[in-house]
Amino acid sequence: MTNKIRKAVIPVAGLGTRFLPATKAQPKEMLTLVDKPVIQYIVEEAVAAGIEQIIFITSQTKRAIEDHFDRNFELEYNLAKKNKLADLEEVKKISQLADFIYIRQEAPLGLGHAIASAAPIIDNEPFAVFLGDDIVDGSTPAIQELIDLYQQYNKPVIAVKEVSPELVFKYGIIDGTPLNEKCYQINTLVEKPAVNKAPSNLAIIGRYILTPEIMEILKNTPANIDGEIQLTDALLEYIKTKEIYATKFSGQHFDCGNKLDFMKAAVYYASKHPEIREEFKKFIDTL
Ligand code: UTP
Repeated sequence: MTNKIRKAVIPVAGLGTRFLPATKAQPKEMLTLVDKPVIQYIVEEAVAAGIEQIIFITSQTKRAIEDHFDRNFELEYNLAKKNKLADLEEVKKISQLADFIYIRQEAPLGLGHAIASAAPIIDNEPFAVFLGDDIVDGSTPAIQELIDLYQQYNKPVIAVKEVSPELVFKYGIIDGTPLNEKCYQINTLVEKPAVNKAPSNLAIIGRYILTPEIMEILKNTPANIDGEIQLTDALLEYIKTKEIYATKFSGQHFDCGNKLDFMKAAVYYASKHPEIREEFKKFIDTL
């Protein structure tokens, strides 16, 4: 089995209820931070780490994502005619970022089910998983930090970050044995623990390197009481016999699936954007 990570699965078939009404008729992944949809930041991170094939797990309401990563010949024609060559380049390069594959998830039966839908394309290779909400901005792509650890052990790797103890109930939390100041071997994982039951404050963030064995386990993982097949349950099964690792990452993370973090991300990217940052900062100072 190769240990190069060439493929990424990005499940985007969730309902996005935390962002209603914005997500009534458009995917939350297409909400923009300045001038780019959230999902493009994520795809660019994958590409920067050498990923060549992106497998989106989609649903009926997510067609805009397919259109975004496809060519738009009419737009290109009009931009060329108006001699807007920089815009033309910007628009064309999106479809050239990677090979894009779309798989419809039969029904929203959970993250584990969404990932398992990619099994025929993944075949016998390790692969990355990015959740369509989580953006990490840093000088090294966050997924690269996971790939580096994967290539050391050839075992699954999960991204984690320290969260304040009162917020652990919102996340999957790991109990890990530290290997160094940023990497852990995971002993167990707990989904959304009560504050007094959490084994640590290391929260699972939407970046994973998984191995094809996880696909096999997912196929046999039963749905939970909400009718969803959870990735955490499959990882708990895997960890009974083999190791899973975790690493903190160095970039700035935003969970763009919740309103507060999305707005923080909007301010963060506006403050960095060469076209608007000066005026934007002046405006912020007036508030
Ligand atoms: P979330 O827990 O964020 O759910 O899913 P959601 O539906 O997207 O958003 P809320 O909670 O209703 O606001 C985590 C990731 O798993 C995907 C989502 O698209 C998201 O990237 N997912 C979840 C699927 O692809 N299919 C599912 O059945 C469930």
